[in-house]
Amino acid sequence: MKKSRFFIANWKMGMPLASAQEWCKRHVGGLTALQKGDNNLVLCPNFVALQSVIELCKPAAINIGAQNCSQHAQGAYTGEVDAQSLKDVGVRYCIVGHSERRALFGETDEAVVNKIVALEANGIKPIICIGEDSKQYHAGHTKAVLEGQLRLVFPVLATLPRALIAYEPIWAIGTGDTPDINYLDDIFLWLREQVMMKAPDTIVSLIYGGSVTPDNAEELINVQQIDGLLIGGASLDFQKFEKIVSLASR
Ligand code: PGA
Repeated sequence: MKKSRFFIANWKMGMPLASAQEWCKRHVGGLTALQKGDNNLVLCPNFVALQSVIELCKPAAINIGAQNCSQHAQGAYTGEVDAQSLKDVGVRYCIVGHSERRALFGETDEAVVNKIVALEANGIKPIICIGEDSKQYHAGHTKAVLEGQLRLVFPVLATLPRALIAYEPIWAIGTGDTPDINYLDDIFLWLREQVMMKAPDTIVSLIYGGSVTPDNAEELINVQQIDGLLIGGASLDFQKFEKIVSLASR
């Protein structure tokens, strides 16, 4: 059976408002063609661009995600954006626990869990990012690191109807390095077993992220337990994004 596939574009801070609007206007037809069959396209622009991207991409019937949200429902948290505002604008997905947020903004496992709860209360599906750094990878500690990052997440995840877990080795993000396919096979099989054990009633899509390009997309998506790709740098260039989606949904 052909599996349903996610293609999530994480634009980070690489697409300012005017560029995001231009990108959507120019490529809405192309996006419509890619969003076919079992493909689920999700674009994650910055907060300010969300509303425009949602409007401009409406004809393509794709989903829009946020890159972050507050762990609090409301209150005196200057500069934060709550999950309800994201819902009100039409956001359907939200990235949480991205390694850049963990490393640069101190996002803890507790905050990740709170964000998942806040998103769930507003019907937004979390894209929960996990991953080890290069030192941990070389020491053979990947599964222990992932287990630690998921320890607090699983009890909450188990109560949700749907969620996505994105495995993104930190050493693969933006570096051009990707893990060996056999290694990914093993990690994703292990992740699937963890999900089946600890959140058996939740539909969890397992996503790979880290230096996805048109050259490796097909090989990556063919890893048995991988349900989709989280694409950073390459998603800014529509031609590359289109190639990735086309090659990986053959
Ligand atoms: P990359 O980023 O594709 O540029 O490596 C992926 C990510 O950080 O989500």
